[in-house]
Amino acid sequence: MKIKSYIVGGLLLMTVGVVSAAVDVEKPDQMTAFERGEQLHDEECTSCHGDELYTRKNRRIKSYESLRTHVQRCATNLNKQWWPKEIEDVATYLNEQYYLFDEK
Ligand code: HEC
Repeated sequence: MKIKSYIVGGLLLMTVGVVSAAVDVEKPDQMTAFERGEQLHDEECTSCHGDELYTRKNRRIKSYESLRTHVQRCATNLNKQWWPKEIEDVATYLNEQYYLFDEK
């Protein structure tokens, strides 16, 4: 009787292990910079402007460096306490999706 419940318990634990391993795939640190940036951007940055701003002819940004600075400035204006990595992720997303500068 006791032994049986150990086996059942063990099986249960294994199931939990497999399920949580599957969920792990969705954790932010396993997403690419592009995916994290896209998520952050879509959550925080679309209330004022859509992507028309990033593709307009007379857009202001002329380099990756300046893109990152602008992301930083917009985040600061919004009172977001973003980590440098989050700034970088959003800059990477905007660059790969719209600006296509050499990333440096
Ligand atoms: C409170 C409104 C507002 C929010 C929210 C906002 N922005 Fe902006 N953003 C602006 C305005 C206004 C401009 C246009 C400035 C101009 O005409 O040069 C701009 C311009 C930009 C540009 C430059 C576009 C170009 O190439 O000319 C980038 C990049 C940008 N925003 C990124 C972001 C990011 C990233 C976020 C989220 C952290 C964000 N913005 C959130 C108001 C906002």
